[in-house]
Amino acid sequence: MSPPEPARRGRGARLPLLLPGMLALLAALWGGLLRLGWELPAPPTPVAAFHGPLMVAGFLGTVIGMERAVALGRAWAYLAPLTSGLGALALLAGSPAGSGPLLTTAGSLALVLVFAAVLRRQTASFTVVMALGAVAWLGGQVLWLAGWPPFRVALWWAAFLVLTIAGERLELSRVVQVPAAARAAFLGAVVLLLAGLALTAADFDAGVRTVGAALLALSLWLVRHDIARRTVRQHGLTRFIAVCLLSGYAWLGAGGLLALVYGGVAAGGPYDAMLHALFLGFVFAMIFGHAPIILPAVLGITVGFRRAFYAHLVLLHATLALRVAGDLLGWTPGRRWGGVLNVAALLLFAASTVASALSARHPPSARP
Ligand code: HEM
Repeated sequence: MSPPEPARRGRGARLPLLLPGMLALLAALWGGLLRLGWELPAPPTPVAAFHGPLMVAGFLGTVIGMERAVALGRAWAYLAPLTSGLGALALLAGSPAGSGPLLTTAGSLALVLVFAAVLRRQTASFTVVMALGAVAWLGGQVLWLAGWPPFRVALWWAAFLVLTIAGERLELSRVVQVPAAARAAFLGAVVLLLAGLALTAADFDAGVRTVGAALLALSLWLVRHDIARRTVRQHGLTRFIAVCLLSGYAWLGAGGLLALVYGGVAAGGPYDAMLHALFLGFVFAMIFGHAPIILPAVLGITVGFRRAFYAHLVLLHATLALRVAGDLLGWTPGRRWGGVLNVAALLLFAASTVASALSARHPPSARP
């Protein structure tokens, strides 16, 4: 797939802006393994304590900020990935003078401003939903900055990612002409999600359960109305994307169900299962599916589809199922090995994507 012409402009500067995000991902994976109890060398930076913020704000905030800046096509919009990336570096440096939370919060504020500009251009239900995702990220960042512990803001961060992705899928659902009542049901689930987040401030347990009900409703909606139900019958990349989407929606539903059943847990098996059903099962399945489209648009590199891409998708789902089973049954080896194999799935995804991009740059016929 060749990158479109407008996406080529200024793309040379984009990779350096994304590098802090990539570094944040690697450090967060290291921190996640330390949190699971693997005895690895502890780096001088607090990667275990900042695992969640490094993943959400450092890595995903930077990547999503970059994608939105490219789509808006305005130079100032690059402030969003720039500040989140600087925030990631500050977190990795141990957050001197509280600079990590401050800069990542600035990144989320910049993304909200980007969405304000998007809304001025196009006010539609899907742009509003995505803008609400950015607002949820900003809300979570402000609460974290104010001293709330990560377990109390983790669902605000999850809402950022869920609303960003769900908004994109709502846009595409126009192709399948979703009835007005179904669109109203979607917006009802979004309102319930936001109400649940607000409720966590007054009653954490009831708020988490409300968020869980909303996530479950959103997953059922997406399974029922997403165009992926049709495109899964096609071939090649189109089918791969549909499989990523539908399997990701199953994890979104599982995460919602766990939140509904377990409520306001702050650590331990059910907490780990609930968060990673959302952050790994749902969010990373979406990333796997969208990478072959987003990378050409953002970096101008070509990522040709390969059947081998199913390997990292299957590995992610199988190892997450192992981890969640370990979490819920109190079976520590399942939880720990599931976690380390989750990391392997993400690294395999990165390796497969790079291999595909490199072979597109040097096709066999071009080699001596
Ligand atoms: C790929 C391997 C991963 C491993 C091994 C891992 C490991 C962990 C562990 C052990 C915890 C603590 C759970 C507890 O207290 O019981 C945790 C928390 C958390 N993780 Fe992950 N994780 C991974 C991926 C991710 C991803 C991809 C995201 C986000 C996109 C993420 C976001 C979070 C958040 C927000 C928290 C809660 C905040 C906190 O307690 O610090 N994790 N993770």
